[in-house]
Amino acid sequence: MMNIPTKTFANGFVLPVYGLGTWQMGGRWEADTSNDSTEIQAIKNAIDHGITHIDTAESYGNGHAEELIGQAIEGYDRAKLILASKVSAPNQGYDDLIAACKASLARLKTEYLDLYLLHRYPEPGIDIAHTMKAMDYLVDQGLVRNIGVCNMSVNRFKEAQKHAQHPLVCNQLHYSLACREITQRGVLEYSQHNEVAVVAWGPLQKGMLESAEILQKLAVKYDKTPYQIALNWLLTQPGVVTIPKTTKLEHLEENLGSIGWSLGDEDMTDLTQNFPGQYTASERVPLDYDADVEV
Ligand SMILES: NC(=O)c1ccc[n+]([C@@H]2O[C@H](COP(=O)([O-])OP(=O)(O)OC[C@H]3O[C@@H](n4cnc5c(N)ncnc54)[C@H](OP(=O)(O)O)[C@@H]3O)[C@@H](O)[C@H]2O)c1
Repeated sequence: MMNIPTKTFANGFVLPVYGLGTWQMGGRWEADTSNDSTEIQAIKNAIDHGITHIDTAESYGNGHAEELIGQAIEGYDRAKLILASKVSAPNQGYDDLIAACKASLARLKTEYLDLYLLHRYPEPGIDIAHTMKAMDYLVDQGLVRNIGVCNMSVNRFKEAQKHAQHPLVCNQLHYSLACREITQRGVLEYSQHNEVAVVAWGPLQKGMLESAEILQKLAVKYDKTPYQIALNWLLTQPGVVTIPKTTKLEHLEENLGSIGWSLGDEDMTDLTQNFPGQYTASERVPLDYDADVEV
């Protein structure tokens, strides 16, 4: 079992540099039970390899991803796990949010979440002040240890924080060698300066990075695989951790080989500047600046 290094953020919140994503386990937007045993085993394999941070959401498989995690973690020491889940935008009214959190806890078969995140900015008609009040309530009641957000621009983040008593310790964002929206828009720099964890989702671009020549070249130089180089580029940056999803043991073991070493400064700069096909607005969940506010 690997001892995965950690980074520490606001509120003393600690995250390992590598966690497990679960989008598309248990289905996409609807529950799909056809791969349950493989996916439960994949989560157990991750824990057996030293992974403690498991990321999910109420929307993944319409709750089924959480149910799979609940089954997978039976028999493990809950105190050693860092369970993170997310509340969907339509469920972020005060009462709905509290109910959504309790439903997630029931599916995960746990008494508390280590991290609870807004999956998106609240849907129109829902006042963010009420949303954040509900997030505070969950912390005060001990149902949630830490709170955070996803996919928020700097101004959106400040707005959410303004309405919360407890610190927002995390902004989960699309960040990879290819997707550079958060550097372009100042979110990375802001998060680093304010001890907000940047949890990079989509780090492998769904497994589509490896053909880039620059990765192939560095893979040879460091005796690593292209994906190990791509993940190490993220982990070497201050304040950044990541949560790749995989159900395959060989991919898990490969990805964990991104840990425990660092690319040299020149190679970091080379990748940052010269990785081909960089783009500056996530094709999956772009940051919301059309509606951005000055706080
Ligand atoms: N907050 C948000 O809005 C948001 C949005 C998207 C995602 N997320 C979270 O972030 C997690 C990660 O993002 P993601 O799942 O979209 O993208 P990802 O982790 O970049 O890519 C996952 C894909 O890459 C494949 N893969 C993993 N390791 C590989 C390897 N070594 N070689 C080749 N292919 C490999 C996986 O397939 P196999 O399973 O076959 O290995 C899967 O198809 C999600 O699971 C979810 O928990 C959050």
